[in-house]
Amino acid sequence: MEEMIRAENLVYEYGPVGDGRHAALRGISLAIRPGEFVAIIGHNGSGKSTLAKHFNALLVPTSGTVKVKGMKTSDPRNLWKIRQTVGMVFQNPDNQIVATTVEEDVAFGPENLGVPPAEIRRRVREALECVDMVEYVRHAPHLLSGGQKQRVAIAGVVAMRPECIVLDEPTAMLDPSGRREVMRTITRLNREEGITVVLITHFMNEAVQADRVIVMEAGRIVLDGSPRKVFGQVETLRALHLDVPQVTELAYELNREGAELPPDILTVEEFADAIVGVSDRGVSDRSRKTEERRARTADACGTTGRGRDRSGQADCHGRAAAASCGGG
Ligand SMILES: Nc1ncnc2c1ncn2[C@@H]1O[C@H](COP(=O)(O)OP(=O)(O)OP(=O)(O)O)[C@@H](O)[C@H]1O
Ligand SMILES: [Mg+2]
Repeated sequence: MEEMIRAENLVYEYGPVGDGRHAALRGISLAIRPGEFVAIIGHNGSGKSTLAKHFNALLVPTSGTVKVKGMKTSDPRNLWKIRQTVGMVFQNPDNQIVATTVEEDVAFGPENLGVPPAEIRRRVREALECVDMVEYVRHAPHLLSGGQKQRVAIAGVVAMRPECIVLDEPTAMLDPSGRREVMRTITRLNREEGITVVLITHFMNEAVQADRVIVMEAGRIVLDGSPRKVFGQVETLRALHLDVPQVTELAYELNREGAELPPDILTVEEFADAIVGVSDRGVSDRSRKTEERRARTADACGTTGRGRDRSGQADCHGRAAAASCGGG
């Protein structure tokens, strides 16, 4: 399958070129496949936005290459096709509003692509359905909530029918309910519409919803893998001054105190299941020990405990009990 995006030894320097000291990207190589949902996390200034801007040729490499579906971003002849393939959504929804009604706002992109009016109307409707904003079609975008504005901005990109959407901290300026709305929209676009998603975020509970998490530090990729694999590395992430999802952190701290929870818990549901598992084990441990104690007492009293005459089973049982008592 053709790759959606490929970067090879991508270096990017803002300002004076050549001394390498100001490089915002220091040799990035990665491939993103069609249909993937990739989250990029990293400390402030690690190069996430600079990398994202290379994915639709807003920036072109100082050295190395970036290709979108095989098209080199440094070739100006590819620009039009690349911008149609990869849409960008930014942090501030207010900066992305271009019209006085939601309908005109979403129509702006396809109009610029020269799409015929009947087709534009169809696309606007579909795009608003995708972000669950159809009923606001005649509303003024600047009067909407932050989450709704951001969904309209996403609809504006969806209406251009991109194969890939890159979102640079799309929820950073939203309240928790706006963040949830936007995340629901993003996962829906990926899972149901098959759109490749690259999501830059500082929220770890958003990153865990991706198929793959890339961690950046000082212009380089330092971790790349499934959320479970990446967030399982609590120590490494801490050293990079990055958070892990709260439940992962809680499980990690409990394990340091001797709990035996899985080290790669990512969600509250998994945490709850693990805790139930541990307490179930605790209950069966307790009933096993009670049973063993009863057997030992029976032995000491010289009574024939159950199973005693069954070829020494009780003896084994007793030894196991002693071992377990000895072990505390
Ligand atoms: N327009 C610019 N001119 C000069 N340097 C820049 C410019 N934009 C970014 N940089 C520098 O490039 C590096 C990477 O910045 P970038 O914005 O890509 O980081 P980021 O990971 O997106 O950070 P944040 O989490 O704060 O958004 C930083 O050192 C930053 O100071
Ligand atoms: Mg940024």
